[in-house]
Amino acid sequence: MDLPSDPNDLEFGVPFPGRPVSAEQQTQTALKQMPTAGWLDWDTLFGRALPRCLDLGCGNGRSTITLAMLHPDHNWLGIDQLPLAIRYAVRRANQRGLANVRFAVADAGEVLRRLIEPRSLLEIHLYHPQPYYDLAQVHRRLVTPEWVVLAYQALRSNGRLFVQTDNPGYWRYMLALLPLAFQLEERQDPWPWAPSGISRREILARQEKLTIYRGIATPLPGLNMQELRLRGEALPPPVFDADRRQRRLDQAEGKFNCD
Ligand SMILES: C[S@@+](CC[C@H](N)C(=O)[O-])C[C@H]1O[C@@H](n2cnc3c(N)ncnc32)[C@H](O)[C@@H]1O
Repeated sequence: MDLPSDPNDLEFGVPFPGRPVSAEQQTQTALKQMPTAGWLDWDTLFGRALPRCLDLGCGNGRSTITLAMLHPDHNWLGIDQLPLAIRYAVRRANQRGLANVRFAVADAGEVLRRLIEPRSLLEIHLYHPQPYYDLAQVHRRLVTPEWVVLAYQALRSNGRLFVQTDNPGYWRYMLALLPLAFQLEERQDPWPWAPSGISRREILARQEKLTIYRGIATPLPGLNMQELRLRGEALPPPVFDADRRQRRLDQAEGKFNCD
């Protein structure tokens, strides 16, 4: 079942979850400055200690906001490198009066590498990471052996990593890498909590009749971090064919619709 929504706030014809609240009830969800040293202090940031969940490359925040509304007893941080995307995410979350969400402009790899205390996250969500079609850009692909190790390090033993893409090459690469540290359960059907699409990109890709690849990865118990890093170094870098035909979708996706 989809969440209550504002029928006037549509994205590719699908209502954005949540309804605006009165001006007095609105919140401030922008995290303007990340720490320059040390771990991010989630409990102080949110003003309460709740399970911590990260949405990496959150785009305009549809997934983060959906999940934050579904789980008000968790704290949610959405990260994207694109200031415009984060502005839209912040505006919508503020308008909905959400107290358990923050958004920041940052590099998703850097956040995991530098700011997340080991074994501290309950969930990491990664929806449609940028495929980067040009060979000169493939070094920017987020999922790498190092990233898998970082995600494992960041998650609690009962944590979960949600992954999703419409890019077959990226999915095959994730399938090759994730078993390093995770057991992956693949899911064919849309997430039951977001049947019309968890994210903007999923909605667009489904309208284009693309296959969506999804799964929930759970950390393998008791891996030794040093051994894990060494085994990661033996895995291939993210050099795969991302299929340039899907590029036009990125162009459509780039035109944000949130006023
Ligand atoms: C294909 S879009 C998907 C957005 C959203 N997750 C969705 O499913 O609609 C990929 C997003 O990842 C962001 N991105 C790419 N590389 C990133 C990085 N290293 N750190 C943070 N965000 C990144 C892009 O700015 C873009 O918003």
